Amino acid sequence: MALLLALLCAVAVANQAPELQALLGDDQCAGETCALSALQRRGAKARRPSGTEEPEAEHVSEEFRVDEDALAQFIEDSLQATHSPVDLAEVEEEAAAAVNYSYLASMGCFAKPQDYRLSWRAQGRDFFNQFTFVTEDDTHGAQKYLSKQEAFRKHVIEIDHSGSAIIRLGQIEASGDPNAPYKRTSVMIHSNYAWTPTSGMLVVMKYNHVPYGASIWPAFWLMNSDNVWPKGGEFDIMEYANDEASKITFHADRNCMLDGRKLGQCMAGKHMGGPGPMNCKTNYWKNQLGCRPQQVQRPGDWYAKNPGVIAAAWDDEGITVYHIPKNRIPSDLQEDQPRPQNWGEFAVAYLPMEKSHSCQNIASPQEKRLG
Ligand SMILES: *[C@@H]1O[C@H](CO)[C@@H](O)[C@H](O)[C@H]1NC(C)=O
Repeated sequence: MALLLALLCAVAVANQAPELQALLGDDQCAGETCALSALQRRGAKARRPSGTEEPEAEHVSEEFRVDEDALAQFIEDSLQATHSPVDLAEVEEEAAAAVNYSYLASMGCFAKPQDYRLSWRAQGRDFFNQFTFVTEDDTHGAQKYLSKQEAFRKHVIEIDHSGSAIIRLGQIEASGDPNAPYKRTSVMIHSNYAWTPTSGMLVVMKYNHVPYGASIWPAFWLMNSDNVWPKGGEFDIMEYANDEASKITFHADRNCMLDGRKLGQCMAGKHMGGPGPMNCKTNYWKNQLGCRPQQVQRPGDWYAKNPGVIAAAWDDEGITVYHIPKNRIPSDLQEDQPRPQNWGEFAVAYLPMEKSHSCQNIASPQEKRLG
């Protein structure tokens, strides 16, 4: 079974010299030492918020009880989108053709018009040098994260003859842990640099293939590593487990509302599913799951059959995620002069932040992650 993720990643930032923008306000360091020390701080992710006690089994306070019904509904919504028997590609194409995206852009929809320039790229033989391999297991899942050396040796990662980077599903190995005797080898890689999103940040991943199927949970996402999660923000660009549809979600540590009116106006003509919370505040102990607006949802096998580009443009007004088929990649992107303001027809998710101050400066510098 060859499950491959073949990648080319790039970040472009607005109007500032790359060396100023990269690392701005972040660790002010690059490479393994920096990312790993940051990881130590992230270890607090699995802990409860400070000041809250471990709830005792018999006296779980109402506040900490997970709303099982809401959670079941949340899962149900995702699965429905997955199991829809209709192939909607044609319907979507027709609907999209009827929309004037220049007009929507002039109304302030999607990425703000700015001149992005290339700040960082991971590609070909150099791809894996641009990331730190994190072997720490934050999530206590069924995976065992390998170092770069081990991952190459066990063929979990490779650069193929055409220069594509490949991350492959690993073998099952004995873990030595009596509670979870076997784990599948995998990798979790973090970009060695971080960028401040609100002044304009564009993250692009070009893929030839993605893995999908039972027990597989690939993700392409952004997170700040200086603060204890969810402070500093987390943005999940592409993420799906098993056969569920991909979910694009933003997590913040405080109330930050998406603008439902703008969302409705700008995404009119797209076939969307899976409405989730509109408040980005995240606290799983209080059943706050982050914001997941109605969006174009597709399962992993769809992405696997439709190679192309996944891009997220993030500025001070919101975040837009685009999926661009391989044969339609615009010349501006190919020439490293990306103009996402012209990509409206490819938007699959739009997270316009409400103009109130609730969402201002919510996110700290973000690292790119694949895991
Ligand atoms: C689309 O909108 C733009 C900007 O408002 C306008 O100039 C153009 O004529 C419109 N195109 C069509 C086909 O209506």
